[in-house]
Amino acid sequence: MDFTRAKRLQALPPYLFAEIDRLKAAQIARGVDVVNLGVGDPDLPTPSFVVEALQKAAQNPAYHQYPSYSGMNSFRASAANWCKKRFNLDLDPSTEVMTLIGSKEGIALFPLAFVNPGDVTLVPSPAYPVYQAGTIFAGGQVHAMPLLKENGFLPDLDAIDPAVAQKAKILYINYPNNPTGAVADGAFFEKIVAFAKHYNIIVAHDAAYSEMSFDGYRAPSFLETEGAKDVGIEFHSLSKSFNMTGWRLGFAIGNAEILAGLGQVKANVDSGAFNAIQEAGTVALEHGDPFIKTMRSVYAERRDILIKGLQEAGLDVEPQRATFYVWCGVPKGMTSSAFTTLLLEQGGIVTTPGSGFGAAGEGYVRFALSVSKERIVEAVARIKKMDF
Ligand code: MLT
Repeated sequence: MDFTRAKRLQALPPYLFAEIDRLKAAQIARGVDVVNLGVGDPDLPTPSFVVEALQKAAQNPAYHQYPSYSGMNSFRASAANWCKKRFNLDLDPSTEVMTLIGSKEGIALFPLAFVNPGDVTLVPSPAYPVYQAGTIFAGGQVHAMPLLKENGFLPDLDAIDPAVAQKAKILYINYPNNPTGAVADGAFFEKIVAFAKHYNIIVAHDAAYSEMSFDGYRAPSFLETEGAKDVGIEFHSLSKSFNMTGWRLGFAIGNAEILAGLGQVKANVDSGAFNAIQEAGTVALEHGDPFIKTMRSVYAERRDILIKGLQEAGLDVEPQRATFYVWCGVPKGMTSSAFTTLLLEQGGIVTTPGSGFGAAGEGYVRFALSVSKERIVEAVARIKKMDF
């Protein structure tokens, strides 16, 4: 038998976080007391009022049948209301909001709707690996847009060759940004809209971290920008805002025709998100503000402990205003992966190498604030004892 994998899989590196999981499991199997600052998976539970809403909804036999492909009307209406309240967006829930089985699912499938073999997508580097994977699955080619510190980790649109831009179908952006923690303002989004209109490119904005922000900063939606709805789709997730990574629930908003393209792919691939989960998600969106506020202070405290500790250890790092990721320069003369390995082998600390998010992530490691402050204190103590 020959089980040679398809070229699209051969073109992909092993999935970054599956690799990190493998390394973490190996250390645990050796008896190491691992501090896991690798994958961005909130450690605290989903709020109990959301769990209770699921328990109740799960008892409704009507929800045991297939859900709607594009999502429950009530969930889409509550997502639209939340976007109105949070970003002052006017969205038609029936055409401009779509339920996703987690935003990863929507992001991964999206290029199948608009990218033909040989087409280009503009993908930040470093970035969440799924933008690249989705492009490759659709037969497209990734053109990397480096996110450099001197540009505030925003892509430099002027540096993109017009011949490449002309072949591009999708431009990905993600602010607040994973992995750098950078934020973007309305002026940047205006430039993106103008660029997208000039070259006829769809903008896919990943807003998974919109609610994780500190020091009074509140992230805008890309769709607040004038003209953005003509060119864009924005992906939202309940995973990070409400500690619901395991539930798989998100939603897409934006241009109705763009959403319909994604909907056509999804109708052929999945059968929608479990209605009971959507009902619980509705409760989270409607009543979750106090919980989000509490989580912001939890992460801000963890961030401050980690940043101070890393700085005292001599590392080059600044506090980020959003996301639960700390993007830290590696010691001089080391690569991202060498420093990640050192942290794991000498300190039992799991982190993610910046280079795993793309070539321009070289020189950094990412720490996720996904353990208690006591464990962060422990990680800092171990790092201070290390020799680098
Ligand atoms: C990350 O660690 O970058 C994310 O948690 C991964 C994800 O959301 O799938």
